[in-house]
Amino acid sequence: MLTADGTLPADIKAEILALAQEELHPQGASVAALQVVQSRFRWISTQHVKEVAQLLDMSPDALDGVATYFNLLFRKPVGKHVILLCDSVSCWVMGRDRLCAHLCKKLGIQPGETTADGAITLLPTVCLGHCDHAPALLADENLHGNLNTDTLDHLVDSLREKP
Ligand code: FES
Repeated sequence: MLTADGTLPADIKAEILALAQEELHPQGASVAALQVVQSRFRWISTQHVKEVAQLLDMSPDALDGVATYFNLLFRKPVGKHVILLCDSVSCWVMGRDRLCAHLCKKLGIQPGETTADGAITLLPTVCLGHCDHAPALLADENLHGNLNTDTLDHLVDSLREKP
């Protein structure tokens, strides 16, 4: 349930406080707390960073540093599905730029953007640890490797069909 003013709902606050109590220092729950927020809202707003920071007894700037360090935590709104296309060296050698251009054309967006229907966001990412199957990407929580234009087309079509 969302609150009318966009602040964190009570159940999310309670979950974050419970996570903080499991840690020696509340700040130890930073990443887990931000994941809780993201799992509900799909991204982490500045308002939510401030609220979580207060719950964890830390400054909003310090928590924002955590949120922006991890590229699986989103500080801007994203689409229903997120494609993270690796841009590190093995994938680059194996043609990720050509695949990125293909994806951009199919989706009608550039990296960093979301499709007009809000279905898919395309983001670059550092190595996904799947170099032996380069080029690789992460679509939501699923890792895909040995990509080519056909597998990309199939992946995008299947994401669009998902609720
Ligand atoms: S360089 Fe792309 S998965 Fe490692």
